[in-house]
Amino acid sequence: MDTRTMEESFSVLAQMVLPMQANPAGNVHGGEIMKMMDSAAGVAAQKHAHTNVVTARVEELNFKKPVLVGELVTCKAQVIYAGRSSMEVFVTVESEDLVLGKKQIALTAFFTMVSLDKSGRPSEVPNLVYDTDNAYEVKLYREGEKRHKMHNERKA
Ligand SMILES: CC(C)(COP(=O)(O)OP(=O)(O)OC[C@H]1O[C@@H](n2cnc3c(N)ncnc32)[C@H](O)[C@@H]1OP(=O)(O)O)[C@@H](O)C(=O)NCCC(=O)NCCS
Repeated sequence: MDTRTMEESFSVLAQMVLPMQANPAGNVHGGEIMKMMDSAAGVAAQKHAHTNVVTARVEELNFKKPVLVGELVTCKAQVIYAGRSSMEVFVTVESEDLVLGKKQIALTAFFTMVSLDKSGRPSEVPNLVYDTDNAYEVKLYREGEKRHKMHNERKA
């Protein structure tokens, strides 16, 4: 079985937010950003698995700061844990006011993506290797592993 690093799945999607994506006060609809996050999570999972993937679950979706019309939204996604056929992807959304040059983390979430074979059945994904000297990677991996275990125990 192949292995891949966390870095190999790192993906970035960026988009300028338009008025049609917002309410009259200029606040971007949450669903618009969630769609972008889902796309970024899908790209990261596909980079890891090299198969078709679907979203199975979204956890800890946090809207930390409002995103406003005209800002640049950048979604960063990375596989942080891989099970047999599922992958947990951490997605962060940064909003940037390009006039003021100010950036902030607006949203974060954990997406569970499942790899499917050509018949649409869950299929094995490469193992994920993480840098054991990198405390951030170790923490993300361990927490992903815990959530995966909890889901499988609940299902059983
Ligand atoms: C995701 C899906 C393929 C899983 O099918 P399933 O029959 O439950 O498959 P399994 O029980 O064999 O689970 C496969 C893997 O997915 C994980 N998984 C399945 N449902 C999950 C959920 N709700 N949350 C977290 N993990 C989940 C399992 O833990 C397992 O992981 P592992 O192989 O790494 O141990 C199926 O539920 C599905 O097709 N859902 C719709 C997906 C979709 O269309 N998404 C787009 C949104 S509209």
